[in-house]
Amino acid sequence: MVPEDDLTGNLKRKVAKLFEAYMKSMVPDEPVVKPTHSPKFGDYQFNNAIKLCSKGKDPEDVVQDLMKILSNSEMVESCSVEKGFVNVSIENMLLHGIGTWAPTLAVKRAVVDFFSPNIAKEMHVGHLRSTIIGDTIARMLEYSKVEVLRRNHVGDWGTQFGMLIEYLFEKFSDPEHATELTVGELQAFYKEAQARFKSEPNFKEKAQKGVVRLQSGDPKYRMVWAKICEISRIEFTKIYQRLGVELEEKGESFYNPYIPQVIEELRSKNLVEESEGAQVIFLKVEGIVKPKPLIVVKSDGGYNYETTDLTALWYRLNEEKAEWIIYVAGSTQNEHFDLLFRAARKAGWLQDNEITSHVGFGSVQGPDGKPFRTRDSEVVRLVDLLDEAKARSKAALIDRGKNRSIKWTPEELDKTAEAVGYGAVKYADLKSNRSTNYKFNADQMLMDKGDTAVYLLYAHARIFSIIEKSGKDMDELKKTGKLVLDADERALGLHLLKFSENVEEACTNLLPSVLCKYLYNLSECYNKFQFNCQVIGSEQETSRLLLCQATAIVMRKCFHLLGITPVYKL
Ligand code: ARG
Repeated sequence: MVPEDDLTGNLKRKVAKLFEAYMKSMVPDEPVVKPTHSPKFGDYQFNNAIKLCSKGKDPEDVVQDLMKILSNSEMVESCSVEKGFVNVSIENMLLHGIGTWAPTLAVKRAVVDFFSPNIAKEMHVGHLRSTIIGDTIARMLEYSKVEVLRRNHVGDWGTQFGMLIEYLFEKFSDPEHATELTVGELQAFYKEAQARFKSEPNFKEKAQKGVVRLQSGDPKYRMVWAKICEISRIEFTKIYQRLGVELEEKGESFYNPYIPQVIEELRSKNLVEESEGAQVIFLKVEGIVKPKPLIVVKSDGGYNYETTDLTALWYRLNEEKAEWIIYVAGSTQNEHFDLLFRAARKAGWLQDNEITSHVGFGSVQGPDGKPFRTRDSEVVRLVDLLDEAKARSKAALIDRGKNRSIKWTPEELDKTAEAVGYGAVKYADLKSNRSTNYKFNADQMLMDKGDTAVYLLYAHARIFSIIEKSGKDMDELKKTGKLVLDADERALGLHLLKFSENVEEACTNLLPSVLCKYLYNLSECYNKFQFNCQVIGSEQETSRLLLCQATAIVMRKCFHLLGITPVYKL
């Protein structure tokens, strides 16, 4: 900030002040003004004007605005615009890294709650969607300098445990036996227990009491519970590690110790009422006459999904000091989150809806538009799906390799098949409008043409091979080379510059599809450039190589944000 009446003769600061209001109206940055390197360029230069162009404003408009500001000042005798506005920004990125293009968000710490499968229940493709979407959102926020608490809100505390534990007690005289079960067995027992819960009132009652005993800390129940969780955890970890996703488990049980104080607070605010034996918060919903109840204590005294989520929200706000809380879970839970956020607002925890967001998504369907399942299972297993994508991309790579005499080592082939296969699954999911149902079509997502990860990965590998073929030392070129952009080169350059605003939009609207679209358009722009502009051996070789390099860097950053591993040889 420049003092109102700066008499110190700090001309640099005074010049900077001229730009301040204009700059602040768009970005939180301070204007950077520096003396020029040579008197032929005048006295001072304004260095971060380019930041303004990445905010969705046309560079030419920015130039006009800046010129107007300067010509209105008595301090300025003359001003001019260096032509290479776009060039300078790209050169700067090449020298100092893509971090210089990261958007700045108002939020500094966020919770992203994703994956969050239920123990002993089968994981389904919905959990895959949550993992893919949640991870991308976390990555985009992290790139935008937000501290992200990646949370796996595992369902490790519900009614299912009462059923399962009582069932296991009946089946095995020694509960220690339960510790040797496999996940498959657990799931089978879970189904049997569920059937009994539905058909046998006595068992149902026992199971309900069992949950209360577990929740109030009975050691025998806790021991079996802990074992069941451990067995499931091994499976969960395999899935997210395989997808290259990191997250920290803070399951429903974690919040159990905080529940009494939260309920106490809600009671003291007179929000909790008795209804049909349960303790509920009634919430008004627009357009519906009767208020809707959110059950916080069940009639049997147990806590439920809602109680835990309310407490987790309290914890995230008060203990973790999150400024934004993002829940990535299927759209079937719209009502749950709507009521949860309403209850939190009623309790005065939230001022408005802005800081809690439910990122809903549609269900996964097969290519025929029917719910996605295999012939003998209700759901398609996550692992099978990933295996299939990998196997198919491996076969395609071998085929392609034959035609182009590409040699793979077995390890290279395996890694590439994984990158392409998983990348294809992730990209197909992320590019779709997440709120609609999504058709899982392995044939389509693995095609090397059209809007697929395979096509994009090829595009990147091609750029990389051009750079390789040139035999130039790119690090050296970055330092010494200059960009000169005409026609198609300029169109590509301008598109590169739009990276930042697209990441920002994808973050603020929680829409990874915005970034996918940007990436696809980028490779289209690049193709046009490549078609019209010879790179190697041309007069503009240096400039064009730099542009190739910048494109590859931005593409890689997009891949990174989408959780896709780039490949260099295809
Ligand atoms: N466990 C839930 C499910 O599998 C998802 C949990 C989402 N997160 C939350 N805080 N409610 O459907």
